Amino acid sequence: MSEGKLSTKHLLGIKYINSDDINLIFSTAEQFKDVINRPIKKVPSLRDVTIANLFFENSTRTKLSFELAEKRLSADVVNFSSSTSSVKKGETLLDTVNNILSMKVDMVVMRHPAPGAHYFLSNHIDANIINAGDGTHEHPTQALLDAFSMREQLGNLRGKKICIFGDVLHSRVALSNIYCLQKLGAKVRVCGPPTLIPKYIGKLGVESSYNVEESLQWCDVANILRIQLERQDIKYIPSLREYAMYYGINKKLLDKLDKKIVIMHPGPINRGVEISSDVADSEHSIILQQVENGVAIRMAVLFLLASQRSIIH
Ligand code: NCD
Repeated sequence: MSEGKLSTKHLLGIKYINSDDINLIFSTAEQFKDVINRPIKKVPSLRDVTIANLFFENSTRTKLSFELAEKRLSADVVNFSSSTSSVKKGETLLDTVNNILSMKVDMVVMRHPAPGAHYFLSNHIDANIINAGDGTHEHPTQALLDAFSMREQLGNLRGKKICIFGDVLHSRVALSNIYCLQKLGAKVRVCGPPTLIPKYIGKLGVESSYNVEESLQWCDVANILRIQLERQDIKYIPSLREYAMYYGINKKLLDKLDKKIVIMHPGPINRGVEISSDVADSEHSIILQQVENGVAIRMAVLFLLASQRSIIH
């Protein structure tokens, strides 16, 4: 496996890591991608390392992907989901986590609805913490797997144009993607209805546009986001039908372009809303490659954080 160390003990967000960290994660993930394409997909690197997956919010892909990554590294894995736990009985986050840690857990992978929950925990516990999504804030492993997948398609991302379409306001994938792509030298734009583009976006060095056709023509990669209705307490768009008409990416729009662009989506996709089926299933789309790369990226992050603590064998 790659030599080199990450500059941080936890993966709280892309904001807190540098481009050397990102490139180290990528080169390690490339090696793990080879491993998971072999007939025997398992390596002993994290034998005797215990990892707790704490999911205080729903997840399909991310939870499965972390669990597979952990098992392919031979870690011992325990899973916790808040819907079936004592959180419902009024226990605090710190008490829940300390109880789990007293069972000798080395690493914590956590998804939590409160932005900053991981940062708070990192001041109180000794285990390595990996953020699997904190509310509308960051989702660092998604951004890493997205950038890794873009790199496979386009090579070096320096100067490449990436446009993030859709509900940027409520998306943790958007913020982590922006930090990650900028650290790799890419140009980032966001495009969506004015109500779903954060007012402060310019301060991040990102351009914004409300024009889907022009943004598709501008970009090399379109990363399309879901409308996060579960995070919207007021109405930001008149209806999903109207959103699909004005902001949905469909085959007709792609056919008008004079070039081929890469289509991405972190999932879950809402077919017929932000993306039509003929785009999601087209040769432009690398949505399933993103999912495949997710396992290799998460193996790399877990391996690099564990090796820092000298708990690997
Ligand atoms: C994203 C998430 O949970 O932030 N999904 C994921 O992790 N693959 C995006 C979303 O829910 O729309």
